[in-house]
Amino acid sequence: MAILNLLIILFLRTAAAQNEIVKPRFSPVHVGVVLDLSTPLGKISNTSISMAMDDFYDIHDNYTAKLVLHTKDCQEDFVKAVAAATDLLGTYQVQAIIGPQKSEQAMFMSELGKKTQVPIISFSATSPSLTSISNPYFIRTTLNDSAQVAAIATIIQAFGWRQAIPISDDTDYGRDILPYLFDALQQTGTHIPYHSVIALQATKDQIKEELYKLKTMQTRVFIIHMRVSVASRLLLLAMEAGMMDEGFVWIMTDGLTNLAESLSSSIIDSLQGAIGVKMYVPKSKKNESFAARWRKRFRQDHPDDTPAEMNNFALLAYDTVWALAIAAEKASVGNSDFITPYRDTKLPILESLEVSKNGRKLLEEILKCRFEGVSGKFKLINGQLQSSTFQIVNMVGTRERSLGFWDPKTGLSKQPKPKSGKTYSTLMTDLNQVVWPGESGSVPKGWNIPVSQKKLKILVPKSSFPEFVKVEKNASSNNTEVSGFSIEVFEAAVRNLPYALPLEYFAFESTSGQNAGTYDDLVMQVYNHSYDGAVGDINIRENRLQYVDFTLPYTETGVYMIVPFKKVQKNIWIFLKPWSKDLWFGAIAFFLYTGFVVWVMEHKANPEFSGSRTHQLGTILHFSFSTMVYAHREHLENVLSKLVLIIWLFVVLILTSSYTASLASMLTVQKLEPSVTDFHQLIKNGDNVGTTNGSFLVDLLKKLTFDEKKIIQYNSVEEFSEAMLKGSQNGGITAIFEGLPFVQLIIKQQCANFTVVGPILKNQGLAFAFPIGSPLVHDISRALLKVVEGEEITNIENKWLVNQTSCQIQGNAITSNHLDFNSFVGLFLITGTVSTCALSIFVIIFIHKNWHKLRSIGTENHIWRRFATSFNYYNNSRNLTLTAKPPNREISLQASVAAS
Ligand SMILES: *[C@@H]1O[C@H](CO)[C@@H](O)[C@H](O)[C@H]1NC(C)=O
Ligand SMILES: *[C@@H]1O[C@H](CO)[C@@H](O)[C@H](O)[C@H]1NC(C)=O
Ligand SMILES: *[C@@H]1O[C@H](CO)[C@@H](O)[C@H](O)[C@H]1NC(C)=O
Ligand SMILES: *[C@@H]1O[C@H](CO)[C@@H](O)[C@H](O)[C@H]1NC(C)=O
Ligand SMILES: *[C@@H]1O[C@H](CO)[C@@H](O)[C@H](O)[C@H]1NC(C)=O
Ligand SMILES: *[C@@H]1O[C@H](CO)[C@@H](O)[C@H](O)[C@H]1NC(C)=O
Ligand SMILES: *[C@@H]1O[C@H](CO)[C@@H](O)[C@H](O)[C@H]1NC(C)=O
Ligand SMILES: *[C@@H]1O[C@H](CO)[C@@H](O)[C@H](O)[C@H]1NC(C)=O
Repeated sequence: MAILNLLIILFLRTAAAQNEIVKPRFSPVHVGVVLDLSTPLGKISNTSISMAMDDFYDIHDNYTAKLVLHTKDCQEDFVKAVAAATDLLGTYQVQAIIGPQKSEQAMFMSELGKKTQVPIISFSATSPSLTSISNPYFIRTTLNDSAQVAAIATIIQAFGWRQAIPISDDTDYGRDILPYLFDALQQTGTHIPYHSVIALQATKDQIKEELYKLKTMQTRVFIIHMRVSVASRLLLLAMEAGMMDEGFVWIMTDGLTNLAESLSSSIIDSLQGAIGVKMYVPKSKKNESFAARWRKRFRQDHPDDTPAEMNNFALLAYDTVWALAIAAEKASVGNSDFITPYRDTKLPILESLEVSKNGRKLLEEILKCRFEGVSGKFKLINGQLQSSTFQIVNMVGTRERSLGFWDPKTGLSKQPKPKSGKTYSTLMTDLNQVVWPGESGSVPKGWNIPVSQKKLKILVPKSSFPEFVKVEKNASSNNTEVSGFSIEVFEAAVRNLPYALPLEYFAFESTSGQNAGTYDDLVMQVYNHSYDGAVGDINIRENRLQYVDFTLPYTETGVYMIVPFKKVQKNIWIFLKPWSKDLWFGAIAFFLYTGFVVWVMEHKANPEFSGSRTHQLGTILHFSFSTMVYAHREHLENVLSKLVLIIWLFVVLILTSSYTASLASMLTVQKLEPSVTDFHQLIKNGDNVGTTNGSFLVDLLKKLTFDEKKIIQYNSVEEFSEAMLKGSQNGGITAIFEGLPFVQLIIKQQCANFTVVGPILKNQGLAFAFPIGSPLVHDISRALLKVVEGEEITNIENKWLVNQTSCQIQGNAITSNHLDFNSFVGLFLITGTVSTCALSIFVIIFIHKNWHKLRSIGTENHIWRRFATSFNYYNNSRNLTLTAKPPNREISLQASVAAS
């Protein structure tokens, strides 16, 4: 019995003990892990995840909920990933899935997650088309790919490249970044001439073919965004094709940059000098020890593999496990209904999937999770990690070198956290020195002439103005030698480029050495890619812009007309011209008026103003006009008339001096006047006009309705001069039409006989032409500005265009030499007022003095009448009776006064 008891006790104890073992201290939280374990990233992640599990539960040993991981390898296969996920969800009833690695796997898996309300947490699916908005159960514990495009665009801007070619694979990962990348590049003005797509399954030959295509293009800046597997193959072949040499630029996106150091050494070799961007993870001492631990762990896990470098994904995988562990504890999902992990069901597995009871709670806890992780602050916003700073690195040797950082607010900087208030920088100098492919230290120009032709073929016109372009054949070496203003300006600009530009000039001439066509034909040669550019006295024209791009103009602008000076006209009436008619009449009226006023005041007291009527009239006239030459001999008695005279002399002084000046300028300036001031006059007269052979002005003149037959084209300044001196009547021309710099040349030699009128039309000046979209246009324009704004242009001008002759362009100095009445209204007003006042005062004094005499004349009290009568009386003091008037006249006068 005792034994039985003992047995029972023993059994119970063992049962109890077994019970204790069966009831675990931790409540398990089953979590699926889906990785491509054969890939470097898969291995790195697996190590990080298992390390995170160990680290976390070492520190948090009192946690009641513990993650139990079920790792599945989906072998880079989409279907296997789906199968793994359904298996994990159906069989293991997992409450969260970490992974998958790839965006297209995540796409379908996150749908499963949504259906079963199980959070899918990926630390490496970066495609921007995956969003927590469309799928709330998808959580991204990393950045999306679109976050880095601005950084890439800024790098391209900083180094002054104008074109870039993105190379991507044909997966969702490769494609989804493109719209964002295009937008960002467009915003910085970067041209995307082509976009290369490499299929995942592309054969070596197909990749080679694509690379050859890229090589024959001008662009030398490539942005590579693809899976490591494709990138490795591509990079090796690119190196073989010599596309990793000097002059090329390779920019890697985040995904490739992170894994670059873990690639095999031959691929790292091919990446020498490449630039990469990656999410910036602040470094700390603690994390350096973490890195060491991590490497050790990786070597343990994969003793046969080449030791991988820890990267951002390793850190993110580590933090993802921590976040999930913290969230699982908070959500206490361990106390759920999922006790038996294994389920046997006859239903097809997809239909048997059940909605997770704790999924929502777990999701909320993950999204709320905040802690300081190995990758920095762990904080999810909109279901994804947020970080704004990117690190820019340079592959040198087997390692990456930090070049600097990019931040959306401050742009490029050498420090991860630049001073606040720094403006957005796009300066190359804000990055460390880059070692470029081919171990070159100089910044690649970002484009090149296609490999077949090393030297740029520049076409040069045979200009009518050797000062601008002079083409000579060196008989001994058979080389075309060009010189002239245009060529020197171009070469100065080329010297100002930040890179060397080997050139060769070709004259635009037929085999016999003749001009091969018009400037439009020349431009077409550049358009059909026979030449890489045209340099010379080429005008920027709207019709040419359809075919070529022009640099900025390097000369001043404007179309002018050169005409002979006006022949001096022998006009016998020229002395009348300075004054207008109204001024002549006005002046004469005032002469007479002043003479009259002086006579009234003087003729009683002054004997010179008395005498017979004709004598008096003569005196008035003589007096008036002699004032003009200050030669009046009459002596004045009255103070008032002296005042009138002084004012009048002042007016006369001004009138005569103005007349003299005007007449003088008329006689001299007229000689310098252009014979024609308006080209319409030429059209009306049917005169011949000249312009340079092949010039755009021929078309322009036709547009201005000049008769085609009247437009004569010349080849040199001498021909122009000859034709001009002949004149239109003798088979020559009446006017030359030219753009500004040529005008200066012609007039410089002929300024004694010709003058310039205009500008009659606007034009855009001379420039250099390059094929449309050529990056040279921008670079040369910039270099040209440096030349034109500096001293260099003055030296070149002095050498070729300005000569000692001091002939200068005289503008059309057509000013009106006419003086009219309005010019002198003020003067006339003064003298008129003074004369009238003086006269009035004189009359009042007179009336006052002679009051008694006036009274006796009549009884009429009308003041006017009295005045008139007395005046008459006074005038004819010897014959008083003459003033008697018939009474009816008086009445009518009174009546009219009353009526008014
Ligand atoms: C992944 O990690 C788990 C847990 O540490 C380990 O059992 C498994 O062997 C690892 N797999 C690979 C392919 O490294
Ligand atoms: C675990 O222990 C720490 C202190 O060591 C305590 O702060 C924490 O609340 C505990 N957590 C749980 C789940 O008991
Ligand atoms: C990608 O990340 C950037 C920066 O973190 C964010 O502004 C943007 O909304 C994200 N895009 C998507 C599609 O999630
Ligand atoms: C460094 O890593 C440790 C874990 O090893 C982590 O707790 C700490 O927050 C990390 N520090 C930084 C600055 O990321
Ligand atoms: C012609 O070319 C030869 C050799 O390139 C050179 O020595 C000579 O000076 C050139 N002649 C002229 C007139 O430029
Ligand atoms: C110069 O070139 C022409 C054809 O371009 C050729 O016929 C001639 O023989 C060459 N002369 C010399 C001296 O090389
Ligand atoms: C100006 O014209 C006259 C003939 O009208 C001519 O003799 C003279 O040489 C010309 N001047 C110049 C500089 O050509
Ligand atoms: C400038 O004048 C000098 C002589 O003074 C002459 O040799 C030279 O050819 C002239 N230059 C031009 C571009 O006309």
